[in-house]
Amino acid sequence: MSKYELDRATSRANPTPQPLRRLTVPKIRARKEGGVTKEPIVMLTAYTARQAQLLDEHCDILLVGDSLGQVIYGLPTTIPVTLDMMANHAAAVVRGSYHSVVVVDMPFGSYESSPQQAFESASALLKASGAAAVKLEGGEAMASTVDFLVNRGIPVMGHVGLTPQAVNVLGGYTARGRNGAEAEKIVGDARALCAAGAFAIVIEGVVEPIAIAVTEAVECITIGIGASSRCDGQVLVTDDMVGMFERVPRCVKRYEEISGLISAAAARYAADVRNRDFPGPQQTYQAD
Ligand code: KIV
Repeated sequence: MSKYELDRATSRANPTPQPLRRLTVPKIRARKEGGVTKEPIVMLTAYTARQAQLLDEHCDILLVGDSLGQVIYGLPTTIPVTLDMMANHAAAVVRGSYHSVVVVDMPFGSYESSPQQAFESASALLKASGAAAVKLEGGEAMASTVDFLVNRGIPVMGHVGLTPQAVNVLGGYTARGRNGAEAEKIVGDARALCAAGAFAIVIEGVVEPIAIAVTEAVECITIGIGASSRCDGQVLVTDDMVGMFERVPRCVKRYEEISGLISAAAARYAADVRNRDFPGPQQTYQAD
């Protein structure tokens, strides 16, 4: 028998166990005391186990965002994303993390029609994935649903301002809160979600003074994206943050240029294959 056996170890699929206790929703919520958050909340999106492993130690919250529709599946919007997609990616992120609270987005169509529908979808997501909380879009209209979920054991993160699932109503992805009525609605939406029991609210694509006004108006944590550094925390789509795409939305700061590295690696690999330089002696097995 050959001494070269296939390595069937599953350990590479799992993160190195760390003696870290996972953060909890109440611990995150308690960071804002008397309207002040001394230590801002760090949140990034994660969609895969390996991505979660790399991000986990640096974050407080990993968000399995429905942005995976565009980022992973190449869909034009988040509208076609399904509960199954969210559950599978959330389970991978939970498997890849030890420290961060994992929050999973409720996809479009899975929660809007009634609090009961939302409970069925949210409980299915949490059971299938092991995530600790759900996020849903919408303001005052969703307050009774938030109340229903929280009172049945499901922590909820809200999402106001630019809500991508409402793109067909909003007509695009431009910043919100530029006129008085819009600004008032955003503050009212956030207040209603917080009063209903949301532990945190994402404020996306909102003019800065309104993001600050919301953060000052609500007791729960605000997490900004295209909002203000004065929010209680920040979130970015990780693939934007590491430079996976050519387009850089205004709210994104790039901390790396990963797409260039991947493309250059693929070019070197392709050249090696075409020149018959790969595989070399180190990557091939010989009989003794
Ligand atoms: O889906 C997502 O990634 C999000 C964040 C941008 C907040 O909702």
